[in-house]
Amino acid sequence: MTARDEALIDAAIRVRAHAYAPYSKFAVGAAVSMDGQVFVGTNVENASYPLCVCAERNAIAAAVVAGARKLECVAVCTDVSPPSSPCGGCRQVLVEFADDPAKVRVIAVNPQGERREWTLAALLPDSFDGRELPT
Ligand code: THU
Repeated sequence: MTARDEALIDAAIRVRAHAYAPYSKFAVGAAVSMDGQVFVGTNVENASYPLCVCAERNAIAAAVVAGARKLECVAVCTDVSPPSSPCGGCRQVLVEFADDPAKVRVIAVNPQGERREWTLAALLPDSFDGRELPT
């Protein structure tokens, strides 16, 4: 892990404290590196359960709102062992901003120090990226 990776992981661990997860009690923190900057998100749940939004998607939204576009690396923090990987929906949202999903690393961690790592391409092979859509 590089110092940059460690900073991203640290951001995901720290932001997890802000998760709003009164229903699932499953707090998630996410940090994405986009255009060289770090953006964070937590899951934000709702009493109307389908409206819950995942941490990864909120981190991506924060980056997009700030004008960033190119996804470089992702860190996700949960408090389970082994650390959770991003859900399928989040994988699709992450791919949207990856120039090359094989080069985007996804690091899952927990506060106990366990780590798992994949590429985004490994997590979502043969992804739908909109190229098939009419122009
Ligand atoms: N959750 C995330 O934030 N990211 C994921 O990749 C998986 C699930 C959240 C959604 C919900 O608030 C809680 O975890 C339980 O599913």
